[in-house]
Amino acid sequence: MSSEATSLEFPDGFLWGTATAAYQIEGAVTEDGRGPSIWDTFSHTPGKTYHGDTGDVACDSYHRYPEDIAMMRRLGLGAYRFSLAWPRIQPDGRKPVNQAGIDYYSRLIDALLEAGITPVVTLYHWDLPQALQDAGGWANRDTADAFAEFTSVAAEALGDRVHRWITLNEPWVSAHVGYRDGRHAPGIQDPAQAVAANHHLLLAHGQAVRAIRESSPSPAQVGITLNLACVRPTGRESARVALDAEARQNGCYLGPLFSGAYPERLTADFSPALADGLVRDGDFEVIRQPIDVLGVNYYAPTYVGVLADDGQPRRGETDAGNGYVTVQPPGLPITAMNWLVEPSSLHELLTRVVAPVTGDLPVYITENGSAWHDYVTPDGTIEDEERQAYLRAHLAAVHQAIADGVNVRGYFAWSLLDNFEWAEGYARRFGLAFVDYGTQKRILKRSGELYARVARANALPLD
Ligand code: FCB
Repeated sequence: MSSEATSLEFPDGFLWGTATAAYQIEGAVTEDGRGPSIWDTFSHTPGKTYHGDTGDVACDSYHRYPEDIAMMRRLGLGAYRFSLAWPRIQPDGRKPVNQAGIDYYSRLIDALLEAGITPVVTLYHWDLPQALQDAGGWANRDTADAFAEFTSVAAEALGDRVHRWITLNEPWVSAHVGYRDGRHAPGIQDPAQAVAANHHLLLAHGQAVRAIRESSPSPAQVGITLNLACVRPTGRESARVALDAEARQNGCYLGPLFSGAYPERLTADFSPALADGLVRDGDFEVIRQPIDVLGVNYYAPTYVGVLADDGQPRRGETDAGNGYVTVQPPGLPITAMNWLVEPSSLHELLTRVVAPVTGDLPVYITENGSAWHDYVTPDGTIEDEERQAYLRAHLAAVHQAIADGVNVRGYFAWSLLDNFEWAEGYARRFGLAFVDYGTQKRILKRSGELYARVARANALPLD
């Protein structure tokens, strides 16, 4: 008899879930008093999204959530991470409150609880009310106060049933892709605004943590979700470049949150600490509120190198500015997003970057997944072998990180459904279920079946 393990078992109580975000799935953008968000404005601006796609209809989950919850229940999932659309609850970003928006999320939460699924609520997944952007958005310090007010409203209304909150999703993307690169809403290309947004998002997080603790009618677990980078050098002096890149993406958030300071190695175009008058006395006390969990989103590693002296990126290199390049190393698979597939870097991220900062603090993988060119076979199935392989390999990496002592308590697959992939529109499919956008029919992919086996057994089968 073979003594080899047939599955990788996860710790008791490990939480298995899926994740979505409001603008990516809900649709119904003008219904029941919802105000416009920066993503409505951006996606309706010609040339900003692939094919001019918008979230106007998306997966129509605003109406179809009972069906989506029934699917999660069939999959045996314990938790669902979704986000609140701020402009449904405060159409202009400030009081007054739109009761219909609260009622919608109340119904969703009740239906989840009825199905035995724990709601994990993200307060901000990128859909800032447009009225707040008109006043400067995240580059304006007042937006942090507005977010704290919104958070209090949500915690008061929903905190009797929601006990797990995530303040912000990937503030690095909000600040740097939204205000520096302009590839995301609000589509601004201004390093000074990006640096200001970086700081104000952190301030918003800290104020929101306080707001939940003060306003929630029952005890709550609060955290933030970061997209931390595992940056690997490719020789030619690039170790320094890798450290710089990690300081910009990881240190800029982990530093203030866990040690109360921005990294010293940041240059002025990235450091909030070096911007005149941006960081005020007492800000780090607000930002460095004790949190109960850290959420980590992980998709792909980054490889970096130094730009050649002639200023020309070589084959497989992309100019990333500041004298460095990102590199596509030969031999690594890439997804439909052009993202590298390398599960060992998730293990490295958790052991080298996360654990030394978080220590015993519970860590959740709040997003992980991959996009592929899925299609429905004549038999009506989706045989997404690459997604299954990605899922298996990344779960094995998480399992190894746990064995190595990292306190990972749960995993949320991105995503329950194919959905509006921001600037990529509907062209990129991340779902465990395929969405036929013509009919809104959901079809579980093979990867969804695999994930259900994992969640049910609390173990990754090795067959
Ligand atoms: C993350 C976002 C999420 C989704 C995935 C693919 O950065 O948080 O909304 O778009 O990427």
